[in-house]
Amino acid sequence: MPSENLYPFQWMWDSGFVALGTSHYDLEKAIQEIECMFSGQWENGMIPHIIFHSENETSYFPNFDFWDCSVNDGAPQKPKTSGITQPAVFGFILEAIYDHHKDNAEVVSFVKRVYPKVVKYHRFLYDYRDPFKEGLFFIYHPWESGRDNSPIWDESLNRIVIDKNLLPDYQRRDTSIADASERPTSYQYDRYVYLLELGKKYKYDGPEIAEHSPFLVQDCMMNAILIKSNQALIKLGNELGLDVSYIEAQNQISQNNFVSRFWNEDLGTFVSYDLRAGKQIAFKEIGGFISLFAKLANETQADRMISYLQKLHNDGYYLCPSFDVNSELFDSKRYWRGPIWPHMNSMIYHGLKYYNQEALAEIVKSDTVQLVDQFGFYEYYESQKHLAKDLSKGYGGNNFSWTSSSIIHLLSHS
Ligand code: DGY
Repeated sequence: MPSENLYPFQWMWDSGFVALGTSHYDLEKAIQEIECMFSGQWENGMIPHIIFHSENETSYFPNFDFWDCSVNDGAPQKPKTSGITQPAVFGFILEAIYDHHKDNAEVVSFVKRVYPKVVKYHRFLYDYRDPFKEGLFFIYHPWESGRDNSPIWDESLNRIVIDKNLLPDYQRRDTSIADASERPTSYQYDRYVYLLELGKKYKYDGPEIAEHSPFLVQDCMMNAILIKSNQALIKLGNELGLDVSYIEAQNQISQNNFVSRFWNEDLGTFVSYDLRAGKQIAFKEIGGFISLFAKLANETQADRMISYLQKLHNDGYYLCPSFDVNSELFDSKRYWRGPIWPHMNSMIYHGLKYYNQEALAEIVKSDTVQLVDQFGFYEYYESQKHLAKDLSKGYGGNNFSWTSSSIIHLLSHS
């Protein structure tokens, strides 16, 4: 569980980071975490963003009955799941666990067991979410991106005109647990529910979704993470004597198209692409920096992103704010519109090290450790140092599992 009160089930990308952190002290539990996630994999290969391990827990909305995944014949009866996915983290997480425990026969057989399931998941993204065969997959719900209410989705969401008569009655639960000023607005939430209904109407991942969804976006971060996981699967597969030809061929297409689709020369960063509008979503935001983690930026591109981070540090920000601090849409408290997220920092930390930016990587690490040390294991944190010094806690949910896992993982790397 990401957090007992706010998110009382198993979330996909949280689960990956939790397994990674846990693997540093309890391998068996880490393996169980990942196997449990894959118990919810659909026949078409999708890994759902939530696994509802209990049908009696009713404190979360939207619960399994609201998703009603039985509309898709390939959704498992048990466990119940949601009908959308999240970032493809499992490839690189398998690799990280394997690299630390190569001599452990149990780990090797676990990796061999899960490997084909991860490949099947990547195949799902290429088969169902890449209609133009560009090697870049789309999402149709901001929840899939993991960066739910980032300003980068605003314009695409504004396109949705909601007919109140067609929007089912629903009651949010999140704002009774976390402070409403730190969560998405009700305007945004109506659109989340609308897109969920749209997914359900088209049986989740029917071909009609690409045709009918008003929200259709290629997220630069999700595609960078897919590429990072492809690279990991290729390396792992070669080491274990497994067939890597499919992933290698797909990854080649993805890598070839990534930079031309997502690089924005004016901003000096990678940005996402709105397929409906046929244009880049031109904002500086945290997702662009994950390209460093997959080594997708050339030296000149990396230099521009690195100087930007260095400047933020010099200007009195903790690294790495989730959104452009100079934009009028920046909101340092509200979820993905400004705060610091430790698991993002753990990926950027590694990315900076790949580019030999040891000093900046250390700042990312020590900022993360300092925030957690000062405030506790929250979901996200204030990014402005002058504001943070008067606060007594972090933002969003408390006792957050991927925050603690990210700290364990960061501290285990020197
Ligand atoms: C939520 O419930 O707010 C999640 O972010 C969606 O999975």
